[in-house]
Amino acid sequence: MSGSLSPAALARLLGRWHIGASPAYRELADVVRLLVLDGRIPLGTALPSERTLSDTLAVSRTTVTAAYASLREQGFLSSGQGSRGRTCLPRSSDQAAGAGPGAEAGAGLSGAPGLAVPEGVIDLAYASLPASGEVVHRAFASALTELPALLPGFGYDALGVPSLREAIAARYSAIGVPTAPGQILVTSGAQHALNIVLRAMVGKQDKVLVEQPTYPNALDAIRAQGCRMVPVALPPAPETGWDLDAVETALMQQRPKLAYMVPDFHNPTGRLMPDAQRRRLVRAAAASGTVLVADETLRELNLDGGTAAPLAAFSPAVVSIGSLSKSHWAGLRTGWIRASESLIQRFAGARTTMDLGGPVVEQLAAAHLVRALDEPLPARRAALRESRTALLELIAAHLPEWQAERPEGGLAVWCRLPSASSTALTVIAPDFGIRLAAGPRFGVGGVFENHLRVPFTLPPDKLEQAVRALRSAQDRLDAAPQLRRTLRESPAAAIA
Ligand SMILES: Cc1ncc(COP(=O)(O)O)c(C=O)c1O
Repeated sequence: MSGSLSPAALARLLGRWHIGASPAYRELADVVRLLVLDGRIPLGTALPSERTLSDTLAVSRTTVTAAYASLREQGFLSSGQGSRGRTCLPRSSDQAAGAGPGAEAGAGLSGAPGLAVPEGVIDLAYASLPASGEVVHRAFASALTELPALLPGFGYDALGVPSLREAIAARYSAIGVPTAPGQILVTSGAQHALNIVLRAMVGKQDKVLVEQPTYPNALDAIRAQGCRMVPVALPPAPETGWDLDAVETALMQQRPKLAYMVPDFHNPTGRLMPDAQRRRLVRAAAASGTVLVADETLRELNLDGGTAAPLAAFSPAVVSIGSLSKSHWAGLRTGWIRASESLIQRFAGARTTMDLGGPVVEQLAAAHLVRALDEPLPARRAALRESRTALLELIAAHLPEWQAERPEGGLAVWCRLPSASSTALTVIAPDFGIRLAAGPRFGVGGVFENHLRVPFTLPPDKLEQAVRALRSAQDRLDAAPQLRRTLRESPAAAIA
């Protein structure tokens, strides 16, 4: 909670607010809204009482009352009974209705759907969180104040804004991987980063090793590049970690050009690759001449305190991909590649076939977020731990025939189903008010029809609704098993 604003201080900030182009209350509300949005009135600030502000501005009390009412209606002013309203940002209708403890604490768990999802549907296809509270807004407010210094420039930079590259390099150095800013290329998220790496390093028919299961959008990107996939299965739960014998054999026999790995809270299993396995992995990749690409998008979502050094700490040849999507917000669309300076130059060349650089304000804001990367994480992790526990208990209670793997981190639980029904469940899910990502999307060759990824990115009350809906969908399939055979075509819907 911030402080309060005196009527005189607010009057100074308002300046010449009353131009007479529209009713006075509306002009007053519009200017206050802009002041909140650009950060000049911090969030959580108590505004002056209606009486004192109307005296100071020499307007009628009705004008101030109507202006405050309008701000409340638009979600820019809290409506505490009997107390002075505090500035805030509008929430989705779901959140406003009380989406759960995570949302209230600003910790990031809400029922807010992805941008494209119809209202009322619980989205289990996206494993993604709302923005990490106020820090994102604050970073943009600071970015706007820094923008004028960059406006005289051309605005294009294929490598990224220097302050952000410096901040990312410093972060790697701080976690044990000495890095110069020249080793960083800023991207529009991790998915963009992977596409740049693929465009620069592999061509049609080249082999790319992938974990089985793995992140569906990565598989799609590798497929789109015309590469041949070399899937290596992760050992099924209750085993943990990776099957390094299998990885070594595949590397040695197939000699893939590139290996795409998610060693830090792997999507969808949430596993963390132990250091000993990382050591073996980089040794085997060096022996087979394979470029290791480590997708570290989920690295900060460490829920049990397990530790592992970034893969790049074991070899300077590793290409690392990172993102702010999971630590802060996917809407930032900001990620990066860390590699040798010569590779970064090559990636910058490949990038210009797709775009000519990232948006500058987003990068300026991202620099603030990366410099204080840890700030929102304790609250985010605490809320995620609570939701993980809730989801595992709900599955055990309502879907006891499902086997859920307990993830060490990340955002989802990978479940083994008793029958091959994942696609059929996904097809009928909307009838039960949920949206799912079918298991086969996470693998090569149609496997994982008996698996489903269930994110715990919603607060416990929403998760309960979701699991009850899954139970009803499973009951429908159990009552009509022929549906499993007829519903084999998974909808080509967005997943994250
Ligand atoms: C492993 C992995 N890589 C990449 C992405 C995409 O990240 P971004 O939003 O930064 O493109 C995700 C998002 O879920 C992910 O889980």
